[in-house]
Amino acid sequence: MANNSEFSSKIGLIAATVGSAVGLGNVWRFPAETQANGGAAFLLVYVICVLLFGIPVMLGEFAIGRAGKSDAIDSYRKLSPGKPWWISGFLGILCSYLILTFYMVVSGWTLEYLYQSLSGELFTPIPGVEEGSNLQFADRMQEYVAGIWPPMVWTWITITICGAVLCMGVQKGIERVSNILMPLLFLILIILCVTAMTLPKASEGLAYFFHPDFSKITPDVCISALGQAFFSLSLGMGTLITYGSYFKKDTNLTKTAFTVSILDMLVAILVGMIIFPGVMSFGLEGESFGGSALVFVTFPEIFNRMWCPQLWSSLFFILLSVAALTSSISIAEVSIAYFSNHFKMKRIPATCMVLIPLVLLSALSSLSNGVLSDWTIFGYTIFGACDAFTANILMPLGAFIMAVYLGWFAPKGMMKDQLTNGGTIRNRLAGTVMFLLKWITPILIVIIFGASVLMK
Ligand code: TRP
Repeated sequence: MANNSEFSSKIGLIAATVGSAVGLGNVWRFPAETQANGGAAFLLVYVICVLLFGIPVMLGEFAIGRAGKSDAIDSYRKLSPGKPWWISGFLGILCSYLILTFYMVVSGWTLEYLYQSLSGELFTPIPGVEEGSNLQFADRMQEYVAGIWPPMVWTWITITICGAVLCMGVQKGIERVSNILMPLLFLILIILCVTAMTLPKASEGLAYFFHPDFSKITPDVCISALGQAFFSLSLGMGTLITYGSYFKKDTNLTKTAFTVSILDMLVAILVGMIIFPGVMSFGLEGESFGGSALVFVTFPEIFNRMWCPQLWSSLFFILLSVAALTSSISIAEVSIAYFSNHFKMKRIPATCMVLIPLVLLSALSSLSNGVLSDWTIFGYTIFGACDAFTANILMPLGAFIMAVYLGWFAPKGMMKDQLTNGGTIRNRLAGTVMFLLKWITPILIVIIFGASVLMK
């Protein structure tokens, strides 16, 4: 492996991993899921899912990556040669590519919105449409994302930016960029959050978000919360196996997993503390956040009612673009790592091999019958099928297989070795983590899915 394939510092490692975790999933998917699944009740189940499933599964991925010191497939192969567990890594790479196809397109829209916010066009009235209304922004959204050329070009810009970072490698590309962008993301988030607290009905928004109605907790809400936790923490697709292989020997995996998960959850909660006060203060609670409405209609409507809409909107879309780009990078890295490792390819050709099909695909889908305008790829609606299928089914399935592997079939002592860095650090949680992976994670995943099937 090139000597560049290790994160050079603790901060860089955290920034890069948080960069992967914090993405459209936190700023977009989380509030939309919260609204669709009963507000605070969803938040509660989500937090439990992160602590009970997210952290152990994340530790499992880190451990496989660092012990195998390879990509998502070859790490399994090295740890259990001749056994079929590598298929789990293979499925991960396949799914991560599936996610990438729509994640890059949506990241492109985000960049387009950033541009339109900075230029002010987003807020210029449309003749015949009530100014600042839902309709105005819904029309704008149609215009921006349903066109043929602009969304395609913005997708290409996204791919180019990610490609440039990825070509520079793990340390000089991913780590360096994350070190700059992640602090910026947190700064903007705090500014927006403080501002949201000054809105007239901030406390009502917070009450909706933080006071759970326990009667709303159903198996479906649990599946959605589980899917959200996996998606948001970048689990079940080999991303964190790949990143784990870039960790140093003395990295404390447990501390890293806690730090990353808590920061990721914090971002989602802060975003909730921005959107729900905004929605309540301006009487938008009847609006659905479904599909792309939340970020491209509801958020602009809120900003439009505040002082200096362009400022808030630009800050927000910088935030969203940063979140989207660092995550896109991590999703693409899964495949790039595989090609460069397995086929001994240099980084630049491997990056091109992964990204060029996306360029062609986006051209194909927007030029042929304007598939993008219906927001579909390969005949699936982006947000309906792709997203729910990957997050709610494939990711928990991937995590299930991995937990069974780690709990029952992985080389004896491997996990403990990784959790204690070969016995050099004490880890009081090692036993608990093993117990969770062996029993709780697989059994609860089966129960949640079983319950949801039976309730149907
Ligand atoms: N976690 C990211 C988000 O919240 C998305 C993401 C990055 C991801 N890498 C992943 C999702 C791997 C699943 C698997 O937006």
